[in-house]
Amino acid sequence: MADDISYQTWTTLTSTPGETESLAERLGRLLQPGDVIALVGELGSGKTLFSQGLAQGLEVPESFYITSPTFAIINEYPGRIAFYHLDLYRVDSVAELSELGLEEILYGQGAVAIEWAERLGENLPGERLEVHLAFSDESSRSLIFHAFGANAKQRLATLVFSYESADDKS
Ligand SMILES: Nc1ncnc2c1ncn2[C@@H]1O[C@H](COP(=O)(O)OP(=O)(O)OP(=O)(O)O)[C@@H](O)[C@H]1O
Ligand SMILES: [Mg+2]
Repeated sequence: MADDISYQTWTTLTSTPGETESLAERLGRLLQPGDVIALVGELGSGKTLFSQGLAQGLEVPESFYITSPTFAIINEYPGRIAFYHLDLYRVDSVAELSELGLEEILYGQGAVAIEWAERLGENLPGERLEVHLAFSDESSRSLIFHAFGANAKQRLATLVFSYESADDKS
């Protein structure tokens, strides 16, 4: 199913944790109900930090700050729109997730960020913005975005335009 959707790609490099967070915040400001951000990358690559940036852009109050490591698989935060943060690291099976109401969240009216999103396999929504984070060196990361579907492509295009036209990337 996901293969039917054409996609668009953008790659960037961040030199500090703050740069990753503010890039994510910039994206968070653009998110609309139903948007899914699929975060892929090894331990410590920056998925939680990216999620925290999204939360800021979605105007989640700081008192609800996303914690790392996360012990709950699904957390819901109030913001400009509802924000669901999923961390699938400890999930053994997708069946376990359907018991937690995964479908309703993935196809609902909130914005969703999923750490270890690749664990959803074919249950990952066809329409999504994937962010692949990888170590470049200790304090820099490469971020590769793949936008699947019209909405994700639109978010990515807007993000790239606003990021590249900003003098101060922070
Ligand atoms: N350019 C950078 N972007 C993001 N994080 C960075 C960067 N440079 C260094 N870091 C550090 O890398 C760590 C990223 O941690 P984070 O918890 O976000 O990773 P994670 O991918 O969620 O890991 P896990 O798989 O354990 O959940 C933080 O300690 C952060 O300070
Ligand atoms: Mg994490």
